Formats: sequence, C-alpha cells, structure tokens
Amino acid sequence: MTKRKILVTSALPYANGSIHLGHLVEYIQTDIWVRFQKMRGHEVHYVCADDTHGTPIMLRAEKEGITPEQLIARVWQEHYDDFKSFHVEFDNYGSTNSNETREYSQSIYLKLKNANLIEVRSIEQYYDPVKNMFLPDRFIKGECPKCAAKDQYGDNCEVCGAAYTPTDLKNPYSAVSGAKPELRSSDHYFFKLSADTCQQFLRGWTTGRLTKTPPLQQEAANKMQEWLGAEGENKLTDWDISRDAPYFGFEIPDAPGKYFYVWLDAPVGYMGSFRQLCDARQIDFDAFWKQDSDTELYHFIGKDILYFHALFWPAMLQHAGFRTPTKLFAHGFLTVNGEKMSKSRGTFITARSYMDHIKNAEYLRYYYSAKLNGSMEDIDLSLDDFVAKVNSDLIGKYINIASRSAGFISKQFDGVLASQDTIEANGTELMNSFISSSDLIAAAYEDRDYGKAVREIMRLADLANEYVNVQAPWVLAKQDGQEQRLHVVCTVSLNLFRLLTIYLKPILPKLASQVEAFLNIGPLSWTDTARPLLGHRINAYSHLATRLDPKLIEDMVAANRESLQPQAQSEQRHAAHQQHTANKEVAKSSKDFEPFIGIEDFTKIDLRVAKIINAELVEGAEKLLRLTLDIGEGKPRTVFAGIKSAYDPEKLKGRLTVMVANLTPRKMKFGLSEGMVLAASGETPGLFILSPDEGALPGMRVK
Ligand code: 2FM
Ligand code: ZN
Repeated sequence: MTKRKILVTSALPYANGSIHLGHLVEYIQTDIWVRFQKMRGHEVHYVCADDTHGTPIMLRAEKEGITPEQLIARVWQEHYDDFKSFHVEFDNYGSTNSNETREYSQSIYLKLKNANLIEVRSIEQYYDPVKNMFLPDRFIKGECPKCAAKDQYGDNCEVCGAAYTPTDLKNPYSAVSGAKPELRSSDHYFFKLSADTCQQFLRGWTTGRLTKTPPLQQEAANKMQEWLGAEGENKLTDWDISRDAPYFGFEIPDAPGKYFYVWLDAPVGYMGSFRQLCDARQIDFDAFWKQDSDTELYHFIGKDILYFHALFWPAMLQHAGFRTPTKLFAHGFLTVNGEKMSKSRGTFITARSYMDHIKNAEYLRYYYSAKLNGSMEDIDLSLDDFVAKVNSDLIGKYINIASRSAGFISKQFDGVLASQDTIEANGTELMNSFISSSDLIAAAYEDRDYGKAVREIMRLADLANEYVNVQAPWVLAKQDGQEQRLHVVCTVSLNLFRLLTIYLKPILPKLASQVEAFLNIGPLSWTDTARPLLGHRINAYSHLATRLDPKLIEDMVAANRESLQPQAQSEQRHAAHQQHTANKEVAKSSKDFEPFIGIEDFTKIDLRVAKIINAELVEGAEKLLRLTLDIGEGKPRTVFAGIKSAYDPEKLKGRLTVMVANLTPRKMKFGLSEGMVLAASGETPGLFILSPDEGALPGMRVK
C-alpha cells in the first residue's frame, strides 16, 4: 500500500464563544477520520486554530474591559482544553492572530493584486457617529422595510423573511451605541471574483473538470451550480475583503487604516497553523501547498460555510499560485431531540457542561459516529436514544465480551491465552470472518460513513456474544475435563474482542488504549487484524466502562436550563451600569409599548388555539415555513411564519400553537398569509412558538 500524505483541517471556531455539542459534530468527525488514516499507516497532519479577528470579538473584548489579545488568549485555552477532553487530537492548534497567518494573508493578497484581481472602490455604508466606526450589517437594526417589524437586523427580517440591505431599514439605529447611523463613503478593496479567470476556473473546479477526483459532494456541487449560474451567465459578484479601522485584524499592506475582513484571513489560518507544525517537526510546507502537489488536502466544514470554502478560497489559492483542496467534506447541523439546540429547553449544551455531567466523551463520539453518514444531512442527538445506544451497544455488546471471558484466563490459566495449535475450527472460522470485514469497515471510514462502519462492527459484536452464549464458558468452568475447551473459548472470545477494538479505535481512542493495557500489547494499528493474539500473557481485567445513567442526562439538561436565569439577571445588572448597547436597546424596546392598555384594546385581538396540520419549507424563502392551521373553521388557514431557523417542519406537524386570527391577511411573494403565529424571542438566541396546555382544542379563544 502506498503511503499517502494528507493534510486535514476542521473549520476554525470563532474566539468569542464556547465550544458546544453542535461544534463537536465536526471536530469529532474529523478526528475519527484522521485517527483512522493514521492507523492505516499514512502520513497525516491535522491542524486547526481559533478564528480571532473581526468586529464582534473587538466589541466583546471592549465590553469585558480587556484587550482583544487578552480575550483571544483566554478563549484559546478554553477551546484547547475542550477539544482535548473530547480526545480531538490536533497536530497543531494555532490562532489566526499569528505571524504565519499574517504573512500568508499578505502574500496571497499581493499575488492577487499582481494578477489584477484587486480593485478599490468607494462604497457608502452606515457609520456610527458615537462609536466612530462603520457598522457591519448585523450591528444595524431598524424596522423591516416590508412588514415594519421592529428591531430587525440590517440584512434580513426574522419576521417576514425579507432580505434587504441596511439602507433599506426604516428608522435605523446602531446596535452598538443606539445612535442614529449616518451614511458615509469609504474606499473598499474587492477581490474580483466576477473576472473571467475566476468564473471559468470555479466553473471547472466545482464540477470536478480540473481535478482527478471531484472536490465536492454531489449536493454541494449542485448548490455551486446554482450560485454560479448557467454557462455564460455571470452571477458571481466581487468580494469586499477590506474593513475600516477600528477593526481587530491584519492591516492591508500599503493601505493604512484598512484591514483584511475576517473571512479573508480565516482560511489562511489553515496554512498558518500548518506552517507552525512544519517548523516544529521539519515537514516540507511547500510539498503540501505548491500548485502541483501530489499530497491530499481536506477541509471538514459545516454546510453553512460552503460558499467561502468552495468559491472564495479555491479562487484565492489558484490565483495566488497555491494548490486547491482535494475535497471539501461538508456536514449538516445538529438538532437535539429533533429541534434546534435551545437554551430554554436546556439543550444548548457546551462541551464543558457535557464533560462536567457525563464525564465520558467517548459516549458522544460513539453516538455521533452511529449517526454520521458522510452526507450534508442534519443529525439528531435524541437524548433517550443516546442513553439506549451507549448502554446496549457499547456496554451490552462490546465491553460484555471481554468481561465474560477475561476472568477465566486470569484465574485458571495464569493469564496466558491458548496457543495456535489448540484453537478449534469454529473459533478460527469466526475470527477469520471478523478479519474479512476489515475492508468493508475501512471503506466506510474512508467515506465518512461511520454509521455503516458501526452497524457492521455491532453485527460482529452480536456474533461474538452468540459464540460466548453457545460455548458458555461459565458452564465449562464447572465441568471436569473441559479445561482446554474453556481455554480455547475464552481465547477466541478475547481475540474477537481485540478485533472489534481495532475497528472501534478511531472512535474510542481512550477505551482502546485501556484495552491495549489490559491485553498487554502495544498500540493497535489496522494491520494488526491479521495477527491473532495467542500464547500471550494478558493483564488482569479491570472494568473498562460503566453504563450511562439517564439521571446524568436529566441533570445536565436541568443545569443548562437553570443556568439561563442567573445569566439573564447578570446581563440586566450589567445593562444598568453601562451606557451602551444593552440598556439602550432595552430602553428602546420598552419605549415601543404603552405603559398601560385598556382591556378593550386587548380584546380586539382574536387569539386562537391552532393545530398545525401541515408545515413545509417555502422555496426561495430563507426564514419562512408555510403552516397550514386548523382553527376549527372548516377551511384551514395558511400562515407564513419566520421560524424556519428554529424548527424542523416535520416536528411541528400535529402540534398545537396560538395564532392571531384577525390580522389583516397579507399578500406575500409566496402567497397569502392569513394570520400570525406567536413566538417568543429575546436577546439570547432562539425563537419559541407557544403551546397551550393539554386539553386545549383547535379554535378555542385565548383571552
Ligand atoms: O463559521 C465559523 O465559525 C468560522 N469561524 C469558520 C472559519 S473556517 C476557516 F475558513 F477558517
Ligand atoms: Zn419583515
């Protein structure tokens, strides 16, 4: 087998938030793939880094009264510790705020400039005259130009789903200072993605015409064709890569006061982090990044950042004289119990909180593996299923094999396994059939179809348990003259256990090392499948893993739910003492309401219990779901609700909620909306529709 040279990355997490279970889908998935490739004997390097630049990080540091450098140093350590606790083993974990990333960003930029792909243009943008800074779209709020909903962000409306630019907002205000923003112009630097050379290159690259193997999954390639448009159509627009001071980032060479937009240097962070590894371990950087490199480069990413990785990044690399990625591995999002992670439900769980409560990272690694299939589909962490799977598969099937056989070897055979000549035909056959699954399991890992690998491994575990059940070593142990059979049966069953350990090792690295210690062997690699363990002295068995107690999950969810309250309170306290964002926003929204209204005003609103009889996606709408609601009128109502980000339509079907039934019907691009469903939202993420208590019926009045 030829030794492949592989560089692997996971997306760089932002340095202003904690790692949570959603992030871990990606890091665990990547780590398993890397560990598998290393076990196969390939040269693999896995790098990542914190993504440290941009306005939100700058403002958060300011809010905390520290420098951005202090903030990113603290978060770096938190991220590093979190990954370590989940056995995510990077070869280098860096930061985009490094000399290496600065140098590559600047040199790539200069090469693009030399290739005539950088253009300076003056653009008009909102400016905060109190903070003296230009405002990113997400820091401008105002009334939606379409539906007049208040406090909507500068890029789209969460109520009606309309997309627009900040200058379309009515009564805009700065979310940073509360001030009314002014339009000012400033020079911006653009990467000319609309240039022929970029369009042509990307058309060839995304369709796989330029590479040995297609660089995108089919679903991703289809998406690209949508973004690129038909042949001859020029749909790509130039990309604004600069931001004005004050900005936490790298200054653009020869452009004082102008900084690279965070997304310009973020992927360059892959190179910067790898460069640090090369310097530490004498690896040839150029061999991996030169244009005609025969090494492999894989980026694991979430489907939401495909645009950056499949268009901007390869176009930048290509035109700056570097190689492009071999393949992007995009994955879907995580839902918990079928819904978006939610703080109020206690399902927004950080890596730290999981470890504090559950303590065993490998349970989650196993569960995610069982669910992952290499596609861009979302995966669901169903907490009940999580407990069931861990206990039935890992403990009940896998660990059980060792625990039922090991004691006899220690007690009756002085810890030594039977030798080759005593093994019976049925034992050899079974071991061989386990070995012959090696290729299938390896191919599943290679394709990132870990679910398939796990299903095959558990099928083998069932066979091993069946063997132990039929041979019944505990019966043999009590019969005279059966010592040799007992010895053979326990030896075969521990060999089957060892083979399963090899197959599970990429997923369960810590457990595998405990098994290696118990079996008294060195680190297992994939080729060890071919060599059975016979006539060998093992160590006494001490228990390898315990069942997952469902109470731990309950406690974790409860702790995350409860932890909202003190946080909300402390945020209010903070607001009371600060002269910016929070208190101005609170003041603004309370100003929007009358201090008191008469009951006659309230009774004007016809609120009804509604049954969601159908919920579906709306083609072309980013935020909306089309709901069909039964309010006991005979003919159901259609309502478009901006709740797509928070709910899977399938999970809404059959639920009861509350709607405003006498809102004037509104004609929307997608059809007539005949009312509005009520949902709660606040400063913390999430959107929550209301549910009546049990017993309520469609059509009942809410008053
Ligand atoms: O979406 C994100 O979380 C970004 N911080 C990912 C960056 S990936 C790479 F390009 F750096
Ligand atoms: Zn709107």
